[in-house]
Amino acid sequence: MAFRVVQPFPAPLARGDDQSIHGTESLGLTRRMRRNRKADWSRRLVRESVLTTSDLIWPIFLIDSSEARTPIAWMPGVDRLNIDEAVRQSEHAAALGIPAIAPFPFVEKGLRDATGSEALNGRNLMCRAVRAIKAAVPQIGIICDAALDPYTSHGHDGVMAGERILNDASVRVLTQQALALADAGTDVIAPSDMMDGRVGAIRAALDASGHDEVQIMAYAAKYASAFYGPFRDAIGTNATLIGDKRTYQMDPGNSDEAIAEVALDLEEGADMVMIKPGLPYLDVIARVKDQFRVPTFAYQVSGEYAMIMAAAQNGWLDGDKAMMESLMAFKRAGADGVLTYFAPRVAERLKAEA
Ligand code: PBG
Repeated sequence: MAFRVVQPFPAPLARGDDQSIHGTESLGLTRRMRRNRKADWSRRLVRESVLTTSDLIWPIFLIDSSEARTPIAWMPGVDRLNIDEAVRQSEHAAALGIPAIAPFPFVEKGLRDATGSEALNGRNLMCRAVRAIKAAVPQIGIICDAALDPYTSHGHDGVMAGERILNDASVRVLTQQALALADAGTDVIAPSDMMDGRVGAIRAALDASGHDEVQIMAYAAKYASAFYGPFRDAIGTNATLIGDKRTYQMDPGNSDEAIAEVALDLEEGADMVMIKPGLPYLDVIARVKDQFRVPTFAYQVSGEYAMIMAAAQNGWLDGDKAMMESLMAFKRAGADGVLTYFAPRVAERLKAEA
């Protein structure tokens, strides 16, 4: 349908011509976009996208500690949780209606080595936490990263030879990590390492070991991004990371390549795909959803969270409004859901508004 946008143009106002401003004469516009915006009921009625609690995945940080919570300097309002507290927070999330959590571990320095061997330990922090949460809150989904960065002494997601990150050797370790997590009761494996072929290898290994119901949410298009900074503070890899991740994470200039990555991960058996970071890559989310029509998720990463929180703390933004608007943007772009550190706060707000 083509609407005519040519409108009669009002005659220029003469200086001091109050009649023209306050007069009752209409411009005779056929289509007035503002009519539908005149009241809250009408704005709600014509709203195209909705954000619900069912769209939220809550990433949390774990630590082995006698303290329930230890603060994360670069992520105000987010703490590392010990296992007991993680169980309590999972109960809270489930009570709010949040469908799933995504735990990430802060691993003691002494447990990190060149090949990330602690990742394969079925009694490691992640596996113990998954067991405890599944036992106490079986109704919440648990999504765990397959990536070695919390466990390696060099902070990379795979294993290294000299300065190179080895692809196929990394995939073999990541597959073992995924199996340990699945054995502990993880519902969804989320390969976030960006090695080639890892989704297919993990799928095959899961199926061969009786885990054919375990889903895979692939970090399909994951960019080499400055917005992961606060996360690396949270899991303690800022200090350890040698160099950067540009030989495996994507170049921010590329979007066709994201389509190729998603196509490969789907062929290899991914049940859901993710784009990361979030807001700076809304165009990629929209393209992926348009092209593949599969469950598509966005990760509003730590740096995006920190930007909103920092501005809000300075009084430069209304933090809650910016939070809700940013999450609505993901839905408008076509995302089915969002990983966000704001999840419980959003859920509380949606509950209050309902
Ligand atoms: C690890 C991983 C990262 C994030 C999720 N999984 C960091 C990275 O790749 O360096 C980032 C999440 C965030 O910034 O909130 N592979």
